[in-house]
Amino acid sequence: MAIRVAVVGLGGIGRNHVQIYADHPKTELVGVCDILPDRAKAASEQWQVPAFHDLDQMLADLRPDAVSVATAGVENGGDHFGPSMAALRAGAHVLCEKPLSNDLTEAKTLVHEARRLGRCLAVDLNHRFSPATAAAKSRQDGGDLGQLLFVRTYLWIGNRKESAPYFHLRALHSHSVDVMQYFGGPVSEVQAMFARGPRRQIWSNAVINLRFTGGALGQLLGSYDMGGTQDIEQTLLAGTGGELLISNATCDLTWRPHRGAEEVHIRHVGGQTSFGETMGRRLGRWLDQLAADADPREIEGSGLEALRAQAVVEAAIRSHETGGCAGAHRGCAGGCAGGLNRPLIGLRGRRSGTDWKGEKRASGL
Ligand SMILES: NC(=O)c1ccc[n+]([C@@H]2O[C@H](COP(=O)([O-])OP(=O)(O)OC[C@H]3O[C@@H](n4cnc5c(N)ncnc54)[C@H](O)[C@@H]3O)[C@@H](O)[C@H]2O)c1
Repeated sequence: MAIRVAVVGLGGIGRNHVQIYADHPKTELVGVCDILPDRAKAASEQWQVPAFHDLDQMLADLRPDAVSVATAGVENGGDHFGPSMAALRAGAHVLCEKPLSNDLTEAKTLVHEARRLGRCLAVDLNHRFSPATAAAKSRQDGGDLGQLLFVRTYLWIGNRKESAPYFHLRALHSHSVDVMQYFGGPVSEVQAMFARGPRRQIWSNAVINLRFTGGALGQLLGSYDMGGTQDIEQTLLAGTGGELLISNATCDLTWRPHRGAEEVHIRHVGGQTSFGETMGRRLGRWLDQLAADADPREIEGSGLEALRAQAVVEAAIRSHETGGCAGAHRGCAGGCAGGLNRPLIGLRGRRSGTDWKGEKRASGL
C-alpha cells in the first residue's frame, strides 16, 4: 500500500520534497500546506492535491502516514518545532528539514516525543546519502582504512544572508558534522574559532576541531563566503591503512592505501553527477524504511543523529564565545594553554550544557 505523504512549507525546498514524493512509486502525495495562500494554491494546482493554510486542519482532514516539514524560520530552523510536533502528535512519521530546530532544547523535545509516540523521526541529512559516501563507509567497515585517525571535512557554500550571528553554523553544519560522526562516531570534545568574511556582520567562516570518542581527531572548515560552481564539500578519512577522499560535492571517491602505489579514483560513483541528487536519494531511503516498517531506532539520518550533530555545533559556538577553557571533558588541562588556545568544550562536561548522558536520560534513548 502506498505511503500517504503530505508536505508543509512550500518554498524551494518544500517544493523539491513535493516533486520527489509525486514521482515516487511508493507514495501517494495527499496534500500540501503553507501559511502563504499563494504558495499553497500554486502547489495544489501544479500537483493536483488539496491545499491547506492550516497544518492542524490538513492533519485532521487527511490523516497522512508521513509528513515532510520544510518550513524554515530563524537560522533556517526556527519554524520546524511546531509543525513537526503537531504532525507527530497527529500520528504521522516526520521527516524534518535541517536543522531539526535552531534551539537545542526544542530539538531534544522532538526526539523525545517521537520516541514516546513510537513514530519515526528523520532529518534531511542528505549529504551522507550519496553512493560515494556509502562506498567509503563500506571500505571503512571492511577494514581498508585500518584504525581511523583523522576525519577532515570542508563544506562551503556562498550565502550572503546576514540574518543572525550564528546563521552559518546553525543552518549549515548539522550536515557536515553528521557526515563526520557517520564515519568517526560520536564527538566528545570540541574547540572552535570563527571569523567574519569581507563585509560580513555574521560569523561566516569557521574552523572546528573535534575529538571522537573512538579516538580519531577531526577538523571541519566551514564557510558562507566561498563556494559556487566548484567542489563545495570534501571529506578525507585517514587511517592506519590508507586514505579515502569523498570529493566533488559527494560525487567522487578516491582510495589511497599506505602500502603500494595503487590509487583508485572513481568519478561519479553510482552514477551521481551532481549534489542535487542527494535529496532524492535521502527521501527515497526514508520511504524505503517506512515501507519496510522499520523500527524508529533504525531510521538512517534520524532525529537523534541530527540532534547529536547540532549538539556539536552548539558546543563549537560556546567554545568560540567563551574564549577560554570551559567545561573540558577531562578537566581544563587538555589542549588548553592559559586561554591562548580556543576553549575545549566537552560534550559530557558538567558545564557544557550538552551533557550527552543527561541527554540520553532525558530522552530515554
Ligand atoms: N537539505 C538541504 O540540502 C537543504 C538545502 C537548503 C535548505 N534546506 C532547508 O530547507 C528548509 C526550507 O528552506 P526554503 O529555502 O524552502 O525556505 P522558505 O522560507 O523559502 O520556505 C519555507 C516555507 O514554509 C512556510 N511556513 C512557515 N511556517 C509554516 C507553518 N507553520 N505552516 C505552514 N507553512 C509554514 C513559509 O510560509 C514558507 O513558504 C530550511 O529549513 C532549510 O534549512 C535544506
